[in-house]
Amino acid sequence: MSRLHNKHIILAITGGIAAYKSAELVRLLIKAGAQVQVVMTSGATEFITPLTLQALSGNPVHQHLLNPQAEAGMGHIQLARWADVLLIAPASANVMARLAQGQADDLLTTLCLATHAPILMAPAMNQAMWHDLATQDNLKTLLARGFQVHGPADGEQACGDIGAGRMLEPNALVSAINEQFEQSLLSGKTVVITAGPTREAIDPVRYLSNHSSGKMGYALACSARDQGAKVILISGPTHLQPPEDVTFIAIESAQDMLEASLNVGAVADYFIAAAAVADYRPIMASEQKLKKRDADHGLTLELTQNPDILATMVQQHSHAIHVGFAAETEALIRHGQNKLERKGVQMIIANDVSNTHIGFNSDDNQVSLITASGVENLPLLSKQQLANQLILAISNIPNKA
Ligand code: CTP
Repeated sequence: MSRLHNKHIILAITGGIAAYKSAELVRLLIKAGAQVQVVMTSGATEFITPLTLQALSGNPVHQHLLNPQAEAGMGHIQLARWADVLLIAPASANVMARLAQGQADDLLTTLCLATHAPILMAPAMNQAMWHDLATQDNLKTLLARGFQVHGPADGEQACGDIGAGRMLEPNALVSAINEQFEQSLLSGKTVVITAGPTREAIDPVRYLSNHSSGKMGYALACSARDQGAKVILISGPTHLQPPEDVTFIAIESAQDMLEASLNVGAVADYFIAAAAVADYRPIMASEQKLKKRDADHGLTLELTQNPDILATMVQQHSHAIHVGFAAETEALIRHGQNKLERKGVQMIIANDVSNTHIGFNSDDNQVSLITASGVENLPLLSKQQLANQLILAISNIPNKA
């Protein structure tokens, strides 16, 4: 499968004759399986029409910063968070100058300030403009700030000059984007992930459960897979499609999840417990459907505690690196640190579930990473971007001696 499969790419086009190559760039990205949102400056629309880019990308083109209609759909901050990579191609001398100054006076410059995604740029301009000291100073500033600059290439220019200033060809830019998704952090490793809710049967038609959507665990499975790991995803019932190229084990109850985890524990290099396991189950699930008439005066369910899957894995498969989540409504860091010690894990990913904009069922999440060496607060990110950051942090946990 292409590394760009389902990756979110913003292609930002600025005003320059090389903008005609951006149409081919969109076509190649879509062919590689990426999702593409195109942003155009007003200069860009003088060279190529938004309609062409809309038809090729399959998405409306974003042109304005404060357009009420666009903001009601995918607003600029959402767009900035959506991106896995932002590529500016062609990047004019003007946009380089505005970015070097940190301006945010149009959609493109605002996105560059607001996104956490890597920003790539493919400069294209007249060779004298490229060599001008002002442009070269701006280039240095942008490189120092982490912008990745690809090109320009040498050759004959549209204006008749010969020299450096041609935009790199679309396939070279697709390769540069591909390199952002290097699959190496976890190659040769096996990552076992639990996800979703568990269901604890009351009778054949009723159960106790919770609101977990499974999104975080599934996003982690995709990120770990994209980093070259063999992934085993043990999931309670969700509405999500099992990710491609991942071994998927569907379970219902906490006891099923424990059994499945123990069965694969010996091969796990990492065990990530993202599931929202029901802490209690009915002592006895009735074999027949409970009838109202049998409980005229109310019904009392007697519950017993479920096994702690994560803590059991730490005890029985202590060779692996163990990571748990802590969903808390108060004293996030204190409770998270307690869980780190109590469960004997290497990292706790703590999130505040009292905030309804993040966590359960939401597409975004904001967490703190708690390890023995301290606490790191991550910014609000989409669950997929957060998963990428978490897999990066998890792959950096030192191996057990
Ligand atoms: N977990 C688990 N098995 C359980 C309960 C929790 O594997 N029976 C895992 C979760 O997947 C999560 C971590 O343990 O990674 C913490 O879960 P949480 O529900 O926040 O904590 P609890 O252990 O239930 O503790 P408390 O009720 O005190 O919050």
